[in-house]
Amino acid sequence: MRVRAPCSSANLGPGYDLLGIALNAFQDIVEVELVSGEGEARVVEVTGPYSNSVPLGRSNSAAEAAIATLRFAEQRLDAKIRIWKGVPPGRGLGSSGVSAAAAAKAVNEMLGGVLTEEELVKAASEGERMSSGYPHSDNVAPSLLGGLVILSSRITVFKPDLNFVLVIPWIEVPESKTKFMREVLPNQVPFEQFLKHCSHLTHLLLGLAKGDAKLLGEGMNYSLIDEVRSRFIPGFSELKSEALKRGALGVSISGAGPSILILCEECEELREAMRGKCRELGIPASVLRVSTADGASII
Ligand code: HSE
Repeated sequence: MRVRAPCSSANLGPGYDLLGIALNAFQDIVEVELVSGEGEARVVEVTGPYSNSVPLGRSNSAAEAAIATLRFAEQRLDAKIRIWKGVPPGRGLGSSGVSAAAAAKAVNEMLGGVLTEEELVKAASEGERMSSGYPHSDNVAPSLLGGLVILSSRITVFKPDLNFVLVIPWIEVPESKTKFMREVLPNQVPFEQFLKHCSHLTHLLLGLAKGDAKLLGEGMNYSLIDEVRSRFIPGFSELKSEALKRGALGVSISGAGPSILILCEECEELREAMRGKCRELGIPASVLRVSTADGASII
């Protein structure tokens, strides 16, 4: 069984751990074979442009997600996994989540689709425990289901037609980057900062519900998470100011960074401007035009 899944961008500013969007920038292809066994899984082969930077064996998010899927479905089988790695790791594009989502879907399909959507998202999230220390679902859910997914006590999928410029800085990031970027977050914040964050989250959700990209973009523009993490992304504030000056609707860190997600209407001019600004700042970066993607599919 072969499944293709798209990369994703989590948070969109204030939606930390609550929402993420599937993007048509990069994808992984995961192939799973089920054999008799004890509910174990391992990655036996990784190919593709980013194969060098992901582990084989049990310590790959795809293996953990497959094991959780088998456990939830109460199946004593083993999974052998092959990954074609097309999503660059460590850029804030949900790379570990993509492989986990595709592996969970492949296993579930082979078992006849026994798990519900919620169970499948939960199983895939187990793969994230390894990379970030916490089974957050805001990458695996959009990679599985497509569109923009809100994760509260239930899962809500929106399919907005949104366009972005995605700045992907090719800079060094800390080891276990997502874990590191979670650990730098404060345990307590001033009440005013909390209110400002909530107000932006409200704009983001209202904009989404009303199909108002301008309002949604306003929501993306502040997050107490981005305020802390942006100091680890060289040039973030200059790039954000430039993007807003050039007509961007909203700018946020993509997931735990260092990529930057910029919501736009006139995206081609903005892309050129961001390329120019990266050059001026001496930041090696890819600058792409991307839009909302569909979820994981069998191929
Ligand atoms: N919500 C997670 C975080 C996403 O920001 O830590 C990580 O990709």
